[in-house]
Amino acid sequence: EIFPVKIIQLKEANFTRLCSSKSMLVVNESFPGPVIRVTKGDTAYVNVHNQGDYGVTIHWHGVHQPRNPWSDGPEYITQCPIEAGANFTYEIILSDEEGTLWWHAHSDWTRAGVHGAIVVLPLNKTGFPFPQPDGEEIVVLGSWYKGDVNEEVAEDLESGADTPRSDCYVMNGQPGDFLPCSSDSTYRWQVDYGKTYLLRLVNAAMNAELFFAIAQHNLTLVGLDGSYVKPVVSDSLMITPGQTMDILVTANQPLGRYYMATRQYDSTRPDVTDYDQTNVTAILEYRGNYTPSAAPIFPSSLPIYDDFNSAVTFTKRLRSLADNDHPVDIPKNITTRMYITVTMNTVEFDYEGETKTALASSLNNVSWINPSTDVLLAYYRNISGVYTPDFPDYPPNFYNFTSDDMPDYTTETVQGTRLKVLNYNEEVEIVFQGTNVFDASEDHPMHLHGYTFYVVGSGVGNFDNVSDPETYNLVDPPKMNTVSLPKKGWVALRFRASNPGVWLWHCHLDRHLSWGMDTVFIVRDGGTPETSIRGPPPNMPPCTSSSKIRLM
Ligand code: C2O
Ligand code: CU
Repeated sequence: EIFPVKIIQLKEANFTRLCSSKSMLVVNESFPGPVIRVTKGDTAYVNVHNQGDYGVTIHWHGVHQPRNPWSDGPEYITQCPIEAGANFTYEIILSDEEGTLWWHAHSDWTRAGVHGAIVVLPLNKTGFPFPQPDGEEIVVLGSWYKGDVNEEVAEDLESGADTPRSDCYVMNGQPGDFLPCSSDSTYRWQVDYGKTYLLRLVNAAMNAELFFAIAQHNLTLVGLDGSYVKPVVSDSLMITPGQTMDILVTANQPLGRYYMATRQYDSTRPDVTDYDQTNVTAILEYRGNYTPSAAPIFPSSLPIYDDFNSAVTFTKRLRSLADNDHPVDIPKNITTRMYITVTMNTVEFDYEGETKTALASSLNNVSWINPSTDVLLAYYRNISGVYTPDFPDYPPNFYNFTSDDMPDYTTETVQGTRLKVLNYNEEVEIVFQGTNVFDASEDHPMHLHGYTFYVVGSGVGNFDNVSDPETYNLVDPPKMNTVSLPKKGWVALRFRASNPGVWLWHCHLDRHLSWGMDTVFIVRDGGTPETSIRGPPPNMPPCTSSSKIRLM
């Protein structure tokens, strides 16, 4: 744990997993990286020293950074990379976030090794809206690649091929008992009978929604993405990449050992066996005198990998607290409405003189291309030619987005650095619509930087702009920074554009992000100093021509 922090070091270190070793860029030699522990409303300064061999940035996922996009982190969006050998101090400004968030690299696929939890405590450390827990546990779910994932991804993007699948998932860096050469280092969480713990769960996996369960123990979800929710009791839950959850777990079962396990949720591949469905596990272990059974007990409640209903229903059960201490402020006079299709596509490109077809993805049929000068700098300094403010509010064509039969013209997308400009304090509603183009429909964890939004509705099939708004929850919708858009379905969300800056929107599956499933919102200044972007810190990493060295 490193707060009050000062310095973190990015450096290669050696790790052995799944019977093979590799060197990987991590923070302070640990995987996952250190926990940043702050109190609500704090400002934390983190000085990142890059001692690796390529440029990197760090993002503080879920931290709103009011008026301070300079420290948000996504490369070529709000800054250029911190070059090897250089350092940069992030000023991390918290406002009303409380609970668990996380930080991760926001450059290429470096976040596979560079990530960790952020714990935001209530103002008076016991001020939780539930009984003070007896203890705390942090579990970070991640992906493990035996190879050098950035190298593999760069090659795949260059040739237009699919990106690599991870070799397994990990819990706090460990694959667990069911994977080769792993059982000696399975992660263990020790508990005392009768105590209640606050489990802080982070899904840092690169490309997978995960079901999570602990054998014989109820999970009471009390917080999501740094906001509290009305308690939801279940025996398993679904967490999408980017999300963070606060869960109460009471150690009330017979003294023994119990597996915590995840299973990849993948509704798209019922007949494919090219990914590893082996369960990743850790062990919850009671302290005390007893003779443990030969093997820990495995959860009987973990949904099967393609259990679409359980994934969708879980999200539908979420409600924000909406009490006096945690009021809701749901925009009701919408001034900007957007309807955004989220699609898998192809693009044609030139590969060594030949025209080839590459996998791509898009929002409203625009596949995002990172510029080589960051968008924030271009906006702030009025540098032209970096982006165009013409991201469309609606898809260019209306077809039956979720049918099994797509018109041919839907496969190809256009590429561009096209973004959306919002006026300060606009009340925004966005409906994301999943499509079945390529017959490649799947869930997409849609994440907005700089904000949390209210998820007012969701459903399967095509959004109906007459009947579906009637189903909206405008009383106590949950607040999130990352929401799972259900496959062949839609999700509706609202927020007030009260944080001026340059904010990335993207799918938190890295393969889709690499293929262009992202765009940017510029929120204009409000006309007074308190409603305008702050000035840049003096030491922003410069955008050199060499900084754009790797992916697109
Ligand atoms: Cu978790 Cu764009 O970030
Ligand atoms: Cu996606």
